[in-house]
Amino acid sequence: MNDEINKAIEIENLNKTFKMDSGELTVLKDINLCVEDGEFLSIVGSSGCGKSTLLRMIVGLDRDYSGSILSYGKPIEGSGVDRGMIFQESRLFPWLTVEKNIAFGISKKVSSSRKKELVNEQLELVGLSSFAKAYPGQLSGGMKQRISIARALINKPKILLLDEPFGALDAMTRINMQQEILKIWEKEKTTMILVTHDIDEAVYLGNRVVVLSSRPGRIKKIVPVELSRPRDRSNYDFTYIKSQIYNEFFTKVENPFSYNI
Ligand SMILES: Nc1ncnc2c1ncn2[C@@H]1O[C@H](COP(=O)(O)OP(=O)(O)OP(=O)(O)O)[C@@H](O)[C@H]1O
Ligand SMILES: [Mg+2]
Repeated sequence: MNDEINKAIEIENLNKTFKMDSGELTVLKDINLCVEDGEFLSIVGSSGCGKSTLLRMIVGLDRDYSGSILSYGKPIEGSGVDRGMIFQESRLFPWLTVEKNIAFGISKKVSSSRKKELVNEQLELVGLSSFAKAYPGQLSGGMKQRISIARALINKPKILLLDEPFGALDAMTRINMQQEILKIWEKEKTTMILVTHDIDEAVYLGNRVVVLSSRPGRIKKIVPVELSRPRDRSNYDFTYIKSQIYNEFFTKVENPFSYNI
């Protein structure tokens, strides 16, 4: 297979500037990045460095940039069923049941019996089959995120973009959700691109961790995580990789309680 076609995402010389009344705001600068088919890529960077903007461009929601973004060799010309996204904030419709939320993105052409089948498959995958008729307001934060994952996976996207999907969850639920997403990654072979503030999560899940500089976001470093799975968070190599990434953000200054991010 042609090498370029095998790349899930290929970003070349990407620059993004927002034009506002008060002037221009450059958010991303000189981004060059390839994501392999089936890879799990983590992206970390400080708040406001352009992570969500980057995902929005990859998913096709923002096309106002310079440079190029290809997916399997083709330019991204808008959103498509081959790319799913889980947003930073929950976007479930509170007035629809769980099953209707999950079915929302399925093409109108799909028969209702097939639709039901697809929804049930997803509910099973995220372990919430018994909540099909519940409303989002009746679910915990972790359950809502699992429904968001099911909804994003309903069209079997080749690429799943995750924008801080577990940011609002407590530590235990977060660890469970990380296991769930790994299970899906292993089963479905979906290419995953995860944005997170949590360095531990980035290293635990990613094949590589991209470190972005503060705004304008540039690629500061790409750290490979060559550790076998399942990974052990207490392992020396795991901790060492984490510390390498921490060092990109935190520079010790005179006051030991004050850090520069
Ligand atoms: N539609 C917009 N118009 C103008 N500026 C925008 C717009 N969207 C984002 N920005 C600006 O672009 C910068 C990057 O925003 P973005 O949401 O990508 O950051 P982020 O890295 O995802 O931050 P966080 O970690 O807090 O989610 C911010 O300074 C933000 O104010
Ligand atoms: Mg963001």
